Amino acid sequence: MSNHLQSKCSDIDMILRVIVSFQVLLLVSREVLTANNVNCYYASWAAYRPGNGRITSRDIPANLCTHIFYAFLGLNDDGSLAIEDNDLDIVKGNFKGLSDLKKVNPNLKTLFSVGGANANILVFENIAEDPKKRKTLAESTIALCKEYNYDGIDIDWEYPQKKDTFVDLLRDLKTALEPHELLLTAAVDQLPINAAYDVVEMTKYLDIINVMSYDFHSPYWQTGQNSPLYFSPKESEWQRDNLNANSSITHWIEYGAQPEKITIGCGFYGKAMILKDPNDHGLMAPVETANSPGPYTNNIGTLGYNELCDFHMKDSTVVWDDDQQVPIMYKDKLWVGYDNERSVALKAQYAVDHGLFGIMMWSVETDDSHGSCGNGEWPLLKSINKIMKSNIANSQ
Ligand SMILES: *[C@@H]1O[C@H](CO)[C@@H](O)[C@H](O)[C@H]1NC(C)=O
Repeated sequence: MSNHLQSKCSDIDMILRVIVSFQVLLLVSREVLTANNVNCYYASWAAYRPGNGRITSRDIPANLCTHIFYAFLGLNDDGSLAIEDNDLDIVKGNFKGLSDLKKVNPNLKTLFSVGGANANILVFENIAEDPKKRKTLAESTIALCKEYNYDGIDIDWEYPQKKDTFVDLLRDLKTALEPHELLLTAAVDQLPINAAYDVVEMTKYLDIINVMSYDFHSPYWQTGQNSPLYFSPKESEWQRDNLNANSSITHWIEYGAQPEKITIGCGFYGKAMILKDPNDHGLMAPVETANSPGPYTNNIGTLGYNELCDFHMKDSTVVWDDDQQVPIMYKDKLWVGYDNERSVALKAQYAVDHGLFGIMMWSVETDDSHGSCGNGEWPLLKSINKIMKSNIANSQ
Protein backbone atom coordinates (compact mmCIF):
# COMPACT_ATOMS: atom_id res chain seq x y z
CA MET A 1 0.00 0.00 0.00
CA SER A 2 2.63 2.46 1.05
CA ASN A 3 4.77 1.26 -1.79
CA HIS A 4 1.89 1.71 -4.12
CA LEU A 5 1.28 5.21 -2.76
CA GLN A 6 4.92 6.05 -3.09
CA SER A 7 5.04 4.94 -6.67
CA LYS A 8 1.87 6.90 -7.37
CA CYS A 9 3.50 9.97 -5.82
CA SER A 10 6.61 9.57 -7.82
CA ASP A 11 4.48 9.04 -10.93
CA ILE A 12 2.75 12.33 -10.27
CA ASP A 13 6.08 13.88 -9.46
CA MET A 14 7.44 12.57 -12.73
CA ILE A 15 4.45 13.85 -14.68
CA LEU A 16 4.77 17.25 -13.05
CA ARG A 17 8.42 17.37 -13.87
CA VAL A 18 7.73 16.47 -17.48
CA ILE A 19 5.06 19.16 -17.66
CA VAL A 20 7.37 21.75 -16.13
CA SER A 21 10.28 20.91 -18.38
CA PHE A 22 7.95 20.86 -21.38
CA GLN A 23 6.78 24.34 -20.46
CA VAL A 24 10.34 25.52 -20.07
CA LEU A 25 11.11 24.03 -23.46
CA LEU A 26 8.11 25.79 -24.96
CA LEU A 27 9.12 29.08 -23.39
CA VAL A 28 12.71 28.78 -24.60
CA SER A 29 11.83 27.75 -28.12
CA ARG A 30 9.16 30.44 -28.33
CA GLU A 31 11.69 33.04 -27.28
CA VAL A 32 14.20 31.94 -29.85
CA LEU A 33 11.62 31.74 -32.60
CA THR A 34 9.75 34.93 -31.96
CA ALA A 35 12.02 37.60 -30.49
CA ASN A 36 14.93 39.67 -31.67
CA ASN A 37 14.26 39.47 -35.40
CA VAL A 38 15.68 41.93 -37.89
CA ASN A 39 13.28 42.33 -40.81
CA CYS A 40 14.97 44.01 -43.77
CA TYR A 41 13.02 45.44 -46.69
CA TYR A 42 15.13 45.65 -49.82
CA ALA A 43 14.17 48.16 -52.54
CA SER A 44 15.37 46.14 -55.52
CA TRP A 45 15.55 49.16 -57.86
CA ALA A 46 18.63 50.17 -55.84
CA ALA A 47 20.44 47.97 -58.36
CA TYR A 48 20.13 50.92 -60.80
CA ARG A 49 21.39 53.66 -58.46
CA PRO A 50 24.67 55.38 -59.30
CA GLY A 51 27.96 55.10 -57.39
CA ASN A 52 27.83 53.92 -53.77
CA GLY A 53 24.05 53.92 -53.95
CA ARG A 54 23.98 50.81 -56.15
CA ILE A 55 23.10 47.71 -54.11
CA THR A 56 22.12 44.37 -55.59
CA SER A 57 20.59 41.59 -53.51
CA ARG A 58 24.01 39.91 -53.31
CA ASP A 59 25.48 42.96 -51.53
CA ILE A 60 23.19 42.66 -48.47
CA PRO A 61 25.06 41.32 -45.42
CA ALA A 62 23.38 37.92 -44.94
CA ASN A 63 24.11 37.62 -41.23
CA LEU A 64 22.66 41.00 -40.23
CA CYS A 65 19.04 40.29 -41.24
CA THR A 66 16.78 37.43 -40.13
CA HIS A 67 14.14 38.13 -42.83
CA ILE A 68 14.63 39.97 -46.12
CA PHE A 69 11.64 41.25 -48.11
CA TYR A 70 12.20 41.71 -51.84
CA ALA A 71 10.30 44.85 -52.88
CA PHE A 72 8.22 44.79 -55.00
CA LEU A 73 6.26 42.37 -57.09
CA GLY A 74 2.98 43.34 -58.72
CA LEU A 75 -0.26 41.53 -59.46
CA ASN A 76 -1.83 40.48 -62.73
CA ASP A 77 -5.58 40.84 -63.23
CA ASP A 78 -6.09 37.08 -62.89
CA GLY A 79 -4.51 37.08 -59.43
CA SER A 80 -1.08 35.74 -60.32
CA LEU A 81 2.09 37.49 -59.20
CA ALA A 82 3.56 39.91 -61.74
CA ILE A 83 7.32 40.21 -62.16
CA GLU A 84 7.88 43.97 -62.34
CA ASP A 85 11.37 43.90 -63.84
CA ASN A 86 12.08 40.67 -65.66
CA ASP A 87 15.59 41.71 -66.67
CA LEU A 88 16.74 42.63 -63.14
CA ASP A 89 14.69 40.14 -61.11
CA ILE A 90 15.24 37.09 -63.29
CA VAL A 91 17.72 37.57 -66.15
CA LYS A 92 20.29 39.36 -63.96
CA GLY A 93 19.48 37.03 -61.07
CA ASN A 94 18.45 39.56 -58.41
CA PHE A 95 15.70 37.22 -57.06
CA LYS A 96 18.15 34.34 -56.85
CA GLY A 97 20.87 36.54 -55.36
CA LEU A 98 18.70 37.11 -52.32
CA SER A 99 17.93 33.47 -51.56
CA ASP A 100 21.57 32.59 -52.30
CA LEU A 101 22.39 34.56 -49.14
CA LYS A 102 21.04 31.52 -47.27
CA LYS A 103 24.29 29.72 -48.17
CA VAL A 104 25.98 32.22 -45.82
CA ASN A 105 23.13 32.39 -43.26
CA PRO A 106 21.11 29.15 -43.32
CA ASN A 107 18.53 30.62 -40.88
CA LEU A 108 17.73 33.54 -43.16
CA LYS A 109 14.17 33.78 -44.54
CA THR A 110 13.52 35.54 -47.84
CA LEU A 111 10.08 36.73 -48.88
CA PHE A 112 8.49 38.35 -51.92
CA SER A 113 6.83 41.65 -51.03
CA VAL A 114 3.77 42.44 -53.15
CA GLY A 115 2.31 45.90 -53.70
CA GLY A 116 3.91 48.95 -52.13
CA ALA A 117 2.97 52.61 -51.98
CA ASN A 118 2.77 52.94 -55.77
CA ALA A 119 0.76 49.81 -56.50
CA ASN A 120 -2.72 49.97 -58.02
CA ILE A 121 -5.06 49.30 -55.11
CA LEU A 122 -7.93 48.36 -57.42
CA VAL A 123 -6.01 45.29 -58.61
CA PHE A 124 -5.58 44.20 -54.99
CA GLU A 125 -9.27 44.72 -54.33
CA ASN A 126 -10.42 42.81 -57.43
CA ILE A 127 -8.29 39.83 -56.48
CA ALA A 128 -9.20 39.91 -52.79
CA GLU A 129 -12.92 39.93 -53.68
CA ASP A 130 -12.77 36.92 -55.99
CA PRO A 131 -12.22 33.42 -54.51
CA LYS A 132 -10.84 32.13 -57.81
CA LYS A 133 -8.30 34.92 -58.07
CA ARG A 134 -7.29 34.45 -54.44
CA LYS A 135 -6.61 30.81 -55.26
CA THR A 136 -4.57 31.81 -58.29
CA LEU A 137 -2.49 34.18 -56.15
CA ALA A 138 -1.80 31.41 -53.63
CA GLU A 139 -0.79 28.95 -56.36
CA SER A 140 1.38 31.52 -58.05
CA THR A 141 3.09 32.32 -54.72
CA ILE A 142 3.81 28.66 -53.99
CA ALA A 143 5.25 28.16 -57.46
CA LEU A 144 7.50 31.23 -57.33
CA CYS A 145 8.72 30.43 -53.81
CA LYS A 146 9.63 26.90 -54.93
CA GLU A 147 11.36 28.16 -58.06
CA TYR A 148 13.54 30.72 -56.27
CA ASN A 149 13.86 29.10 -52.83
CA TYR A 150 11.88 31.80 -50.99
CA ASP A 151 10.02 31.40 -47.72
CA GLY A 152 6.79 33.26 -48.25
CA ILE A 153 4.90 36.34 -49.31
CA ASP A 154 4.47 39.78 -47.77
CA ILE A 155 1.28 41.70 -48.56
CA ASP A 156 2.02 45.42 -48.77
CA TRP A 157 -1.48 46.61 -49.68
CA GLU A 158 -1.66 50.36 -49.12
CA TYR A 159 -4.45 50.23 -48.05
CA PRO A 160 -7.39 47.81 -47.81
CA GLN A 161 -10.80 49.48 -47.91
CA LYS A 162 -13.04 46.59 -46.80
CA LYS A 163 -12.30 44.65 -43.64
CA ASP A 164 -13.88 41.37 -44.74
CA THR A 165 -12.19 41.34 -48.13
CA PHE A 166 -8.74 41.74 -46.63
CA VAL A 167 -9.40 38.97 -44.11
CA ASP A 168 -10.73 36.69 -46.91
CA LEU A 169 -7.50 37.22 -48.82
CA LEU A 170 -5.30 36.51 -45.80
CA ARG A 171 -7.30 33.42 -44.75
CA ASP A 172 -7.19 31.82 -48.18
CA LEU A 173 -3.48 32.59 -48.58
CA LYS A 174 -2.64 31.21 -45.14
CA THR A 175 -4.65 28.03 -45.72
CA ALA A 176 -2.85 27.40 -49.00
CA LEU A 177 0.66 28.37 -47.86
CA GLU A 178 0.76 26.64 -44.48
CA PRO A 179 1.11 23.03 -45.77
CA HIS A 180 4.14 24.25 -47.74
CA GLU A 181 5.62 25.88 -44.61
CA LEU A 182 5.57 29.25 -46.33
CA LEU A 183 5.17 32.46 -44.33
CA LEU A 184 2.40 35.02 -44.76
CA THR A 185 3.24 38.53 -43.58
CA ALA A 186 1.96 42.06 -44.15
CA ALA A 187 3.20 45.62 -44.00
CA VAL A 188 0.57 47.74 -42.28
CA ASP A 189 -0.22 51.40 -41.66
CA GLN A 190 1.07 53.26 -38.61
CA LEU A 191 -2.36 53.03 -37.01
CA PRO A 192 -4.98 50.25 -37.10
CA ILE A 193 -7.77 52.84 -37.57
CA ASN A 194 -6.25 54.30 -40.74
CA ALA A 195 -7.43 51.47 -43.01
CA ALA A 196 -10.02 48.70 -43.09
CA TYR A 197 -8.22 46.43 -40.64
CA ASP A 198 -9.96 43.75 -38.59
CA VAL A 199 -6.91 43.37 -36.40
CA VAL A 200 -8.06 40.31 -34.45
CA GLU A 201 -8.92 38.36 -37.61
CA MET A 202 -5.79 39.51 -39.48
CA THR A 203 -3.60 38.42 -36.60
CA LYS A 204 -4.98 34.88 -36.87
CA TYR A 205 -3.59 34.42 -40.36
CA LEU A 206 -0.45 36.56 -40.40
CA ASP A 207 2.89 35.23 -39.19
CA ILE A 208 4.42 38.70 -39.00
CA ILE A 209 2.90 42.19 -38.96
CA ASN A 210 5.41 44.81 -40.06
CA VAL A 211 4.15 48.11 -38.63
CA MET A 212 5.29 50.98 -40.83
CA SER A 213 5.98 53.30 -37.91
CA TYR A 214 7.67 55.95 -40.04
CA ASP A 215 6.58 58.70 -42.49
CA PHE A 216 4.93 60.47 -39.58
CA HIS A 217 5.45 63.96 -41.01
CA SER A 218 5.30 65.47 -44.46
CA PRO A 219 8.24 67.67 -45.51
CA TYR A 220 6.14 70.60 -46.81
CA TRP A 221 4.77 72.49 -43.84
CA GLN A 222 6.84 72.43 -40.68
CA THR A 223 9.79 70.40 -39.42
CA GLY A 224 8.86 66.97 -38.11
CA GLN A 225 10.53 63.62 -37.61
CA ASN A 226 10.29 60.61 -39.92
CA SER A 227 10.17 58.01 -37.15
CA PRO A 228 10.09 59.50 -33.65
CA LEU A 229 10.06 56.83 -30.94
CA TYR A 230 8.10 58.98 -28.47
CA PHE A 231 6.04 62.18 -28.47
CA SER A 232 7.34 65.72 -28.11
CA PRO A 233 5.85 68.02 -25.44
CA LYS A 234 5.50 70.60 -28.25
CA GLU A 235 2.80 68.43 -29.85
CA SER A 236 -0.95 68.54 -29.37
CA GLU A 237 -2.64 65.78 -27.39
CA TRP A 238 -3.80 64.04 -30.56
CA GLN A 239 -0.32 64.19 -32.10
CA ARG A 240 1.23 62.77 -28.93
CA ASP A 241 -1.13 59.81 -29.03
CA ASN A 242 -0.78 59.06 -32.76
CA LEU A 243 2.40 60.33 -34.39
CA ASN A 244 5.23 58.24 -33.00
CA ALA A 245 6.40 54.63 -33.13
CA ASN A 246 5.47 53.90 -29.52
CA SER A 247 1.88 55.01 -30.04
CA SER A 248 1.71 52.92 -33.27
CA ILE A 249 2.80 49.77 -31.50
CA THR A 250 0.65 50.50 -28.43
CA HIS A 251 -2.47 50.95 -30.56
CA TRP A 252 -1.85 47.85 -32.70
CA ILE A 253 -1.60 45.81 -29.52
CA GLU A 254 -4.70 47.51 -28.03
CA TYR A 255 -6.66 46.55 -31.15
CA GLY A 256 -5.69 42.91 -30.74
CA ALA A 257 -2.43 42.26 -32.57
CA GLN A 258 -0.23 39.78 -30.72
CA PRO A 259 2.99 41.54 -29.65
CA GLU A 260 5.08 38.54 -30.65
CA LYS A 261 3.97 38.96 -34.28
CA ILE A 262 4.65 42.71 -34.51
CA THR A 263 7.76 44.52 -35.64
CA ILE A 264 8.46 48.18 -34.91
CA GLY A 265 9.45 50.03 -38.08
CA CYS A 266 12.38 52.43 -38.38
CA GLY A 267 13.68 54.46 -41.33
CA PHE A 268 17.08 54.06 -42.91
CA TYR A 269 16.24 57.48 -44.38
CA GLY A 270 15.09 60.86 -43.15
CA LYS A 271 12.54 63.51 -44.00
CA ALA A 272 14.46 66.33 -45.68
CA MET A 273 13.10 69.86 -45.93
CA ILE A 274 14.15 73.42 -46.63
CA LEU A 275 13.74 75.79 -43.69
CA LYS A 276 12.17 79.22 -44.06
CA ASP A 277 14.77 80.60 -41.65
CA PRO A 278 18.10 78.78 -41.17
CA ASN A 279 18.22 80.06 -37.59
CA ASP A 280 14.87 78.48 -36.74
CA HIS A 281 15.78 74.79 -36.84
CA GLY A 282 13.94 73.21 -33.92
CA LEU A 283 10.97 70.88 -34.11
CA MET A 284 7.85 72.38 -35.77
CA ALA A 285 9.85 75.21 -37.34
CA PRO A 286 8.39 76.75 -40.54
CA VAL A 287 9.36 74.96 -43.75
CA GLU A 288 9.64 76.56 -47.18
CA THR A 289 9.42 73.36 -49.19
CA ALA A 290 10.56 69.75 -49.43
CA ASN A 291 14.24 69.17 -50.19
CA SER A 292 15.01 68.18 -53.77
CA PRO A 293 15.59 64.47 -54.52
CA GLY A 294 18.88 62.87 -53.47
CA PRO A 295 21.30 61.47 -56.08
CA TYR A 296 20.70 57.82 -55.09
CA THR A 297 17.10 57.56 -53.91
CA ASN A 298 15.71 60.23 -56.26
CA ASN A 299 12.72 60.98 -54.04
CA ILE A 300 11.54 64.47 -53.13
CA GLY A 301 11.57 65.27 -49.41
CA THR A 302 13.59 62.26 -48.26
CA LEU A 303 17.29 61.35 -48.10
CA GLY A 304 18.77 57.92 -47.47
CA TYR A 305 21.18 57.56 -44.55
CA ASN A 306 23.80 56.75 -47.20
CA GLU A 307 23.10 60.09 -48.89
CA LEU A 308 23.43 61.90 -45.56
CA CYS A 309 26.78 60.18 -44.98
CA ASP A 310 28.11 60.62 -48.52
CA PHE A 311 27.04 64.22 -49.12
CA HIS A 312 25.93 66.08 -46.00
CA MET A 313 27.23 64.80 -42.67
CA LYS A 314 30.70 66.35 -42.66
CA ASP A 315 29.66 70.01 -42.66
CA SER A 316 26.37 69.84 -40.79
CA THR A 317 25.18 70.04 -37.19
CA VAL A 318 23.57 67.02 -35.54
CA VAL A 319 21.54 67.37 -32.36
CA TRP A 320 19.79 64.67 -30.34
CA ASP A 321 16.11 65.16 -29.48
CA ASP A 322 15.76 63.72 -26.00
CA ASP A 323 11.97 63.68 -26.16
CA GLN A 324 11.52 61.91 -29.49
CA GLN A 325 14.74 59.86 -29.17
CA VAL A 326 15.93 60.60 -32.71
CA PRO A 327 18.57 62.92 -34.21
CA ILE A 328 18.05 66.13 -36.17
CA MET A 329 20.59 67.27 -38.75
CA TYR A 330 20.74 70.79 -40.19
CA LYS A 331 23.01 72.70 -42.54
CA ASP A 332 22.09 76.18 -43.74
CA LYS A 333 18.47 75.76 -44.84
CA LEU A 334 18.51 71.96 -45.04
CA TRP A 335 16.79 70.17 -42.12
CA VAL A 336 16.60 66.39 -41.80
CA GLY A 337 14.78 64.28 -39.17
CA TYR A 338 16.10 60.73 -39.46
CA ASP A 339 17.32 57.58 -37.68
CA ASN A 340 20.96 56.99 -36.71
CA GLU A 341 22.82 54.22 -34.86
CA ARG A 342 21.59 55.41 -31.48
CA SER A 343 17.92 55.76 -32.45
CA VAL A 344 17.72 52.38 -34.23
CA ALA A 345 19.35 50.73 -31.21
CA LEU A 346 16.67 52.31 -28.99
CA LYS A 347 13.92 50.97 -31.26
CA ALA A 348 15.52 47.51 -31.22
CA GLN A 349 15.61 47.69 -27.42
CA TYR A 350 11.95 48.76 -27.45
CA ALA A 351 11.14 45.60 -29.44
CA VAL A 352 12.98 43.48 -26.88
CA ASP A 353 11.43 45.22 -23.87
CA HIS A 354 7.88 44.88 -25.24
CA GLY A 355 8.23 41.25 -26.37
CA LEU A 356 7.79 42.09 -30.05
CA PHE A 357 8.81 39.87 -32.97
CA GLY A 358 11.56 42.37 -33.70
CA ILE A 359 12.43 45.48 -35.66
CA MET A 360 11.85 46.28 -39.35
CA MET A 361 13.39 48.90 -41.56
CA TRP A 362 12.59 50.58 -44.83
CA SER A 363 14.98 49.99 -46.39
CA VAL A 364 18.18 48.07 -45.84
CA GLU A 365 20.14 49.27 -48.88
CA THR A 366 20.21 52.91 -47.76
CA ASP A 367 22.36 52.05 -44.75
CA ASP A 368 25.88 53.52 -44.98
CA SER A 369 27.05 50.40 -46.81
CA HIS A 370 30.43 51.94 -47.67
CA GLY A 371 31.24 53.35 -44.23
CA SER A 372 31.34 57.01 -45.32
CA CYS A 373 30.21 58.20 -41.88
CA GLY A 374 33.33 56.67 -40.36
CA ASN A 375 31.72 53.93 -38.25
CA GLY A 376 32.37 51.03 -40.59
CA GLU A 377 30.14 49.51 -43.24
CA TRP A 378 26.41 48.95 -42.53
CA PRO A 379 26.54 50.82 -39.17
CA LEU A 380 22.74 50.98 -38.68
CA LEU A 381 22.27 47.25 -39.25
CA LYS A 382 25.21 46.49 -36.97
CA SER A 383 23.83 48.74 -34.25
CA ILE A 384 20.48 46.87 -34.38
CA ASN A 385 22.21 43.49 -34.35
CA LYS A 386 24.31 44.41 -31.34
CA ILE A 387 21.12 44.91 -29.32
CA MET A 388 19.33 41.85 -30.71
CA LYS A 389 22.28 39.46 -30.36
CA SER A 390 23.16 40.57 -26.84
CA ASN A 391 19.56 39.89 -25.82
CA ILE A 392 19.60 36.43 -27.38
CA ALA A 393 22.78 35.75 -25.38
CA ASN A 394 21.12 37.00 -22.17
CA SER A 395 18.08 34.77 -22.55
CA GLN A 396 20.09 31.57 -22.91
C1 LIG B 1 3.24 55.06 -25.64
O1 LIG B 1 2.05 55.29 -26.38
C2 LIG B 1 0.83 55.19 -25.66
C3 LIG B 1 -0.30 55.44 -26.65
O2 LIG B 1 -0.18 56.67 -27.27
C4 LIG B 1 0.82 56.17 -24.49
O3 LIG B 1 -0.35 55.99 -23.73
C5 LIG B 1 2.06 55.97 -23.64
O4 LIG B 1 2.10 56.95 -22.63
C6 LIG B 1 3.30 56.08 -24.51
N1 LIG B 1 4.50 55.86 -23.72
C7 LIG B 1 5.47 56.77 -23.64
C8 LIG B 1 6.64 56.40 -22.76
O5 LIG B 1 5.45 57.82 -24.24
